Amino acid sequence: GWMNELNGLNVLEMQLKEKLQLKDVVIVSGNSDEDAWVKKEMGKAAFHFLQKIVKPDDILAVTGGTTMFAVAEAMKPFPFDGNILFVPARGGIGEQVENQANTIVATMAKRTNGAYRMLFVPDLLSEASYKSIIQEPAIDEILGQIKSASIVLHGVGDAIRMAHRRNAASDVIDQLHEKEAVGEAFGYYFDSKGNIVHKIRTVGLQLKDLNEKKYVVTVAGGKSKARAIASYYKLGKSDVLITDEAAAKVILRDN
Ligand code: G3H
Repeated sequence: GWMNELNGLNVLEMQLKEKLQLKDVVIVSGNSDEDAWVKKEMGKAAFHFLQKIVKPDDILAVTGGTTMFAVAEAMKPFPFDGNILFVPARGGIGEQVENQANTIVATMAKRTNGAYRMLFVPDLLSEASYKSIIQEPAIDEILGQIKSASIVLHGVGDAIRMAHRRNAASDVIDQLHEKEAVGEAFGYYFDSKGNIVHKIRTVGLQLKDLNEKKYVVTVAGGKSKARAIASYYKLGKSDVLITDEAAAKVILRDN
């Protein structure tokens, strides 16, 4: 019956919270690899959780991806008059427009009556261009807002799948295979032990910026992402995981 199912998820949440040492875990039923509505439910759960932690005048830094898009789609105005600002967590990392953080922050702002800023930085920058672009006053200003974000909302991806989706060069893909990359978040690729094996050079939040002053909300699910999620927790900061039942079960079993 539904009571048993609810209790079952509660037990999984407690086990995962303990295992990953988190403040909170929210698990929705199902497997988002198989059913699109499960990703939508994760989006709703993420927005529900966000309503508990967001304060007027917060800056939220957000990554790209289809899961973040589902979070954006679940948003409605927050129950206070405040000035929430949505900013992309990082500059271009090769995603198509619909999956880009710039697009997602615009949707989030529109749905919550908040504000947003975009960050336009080309994907593949030489060291010299990188150094000069971060000195542009307009870029410098938004980078300051990104770094001062109090809440970070992000996805996690399977390493090889993400590299292909972003049209990574074949030598990068070979390198990811060779180094046994399993997970990806914020444009960092890592192996199952949590070693960074590849990183996309762009401006914005770096993993080291995810300090104790930032409340980090991780939203990722699907059985196929379990390894990736587990690997992120070996290196990255996170306060809460919003996931689905299929991913949760595999993380608890195999990792
Ligand atoms: O960095 C992680 C990816 O953006 C996750 O993408 O939500 O489409 O699986 P996804």
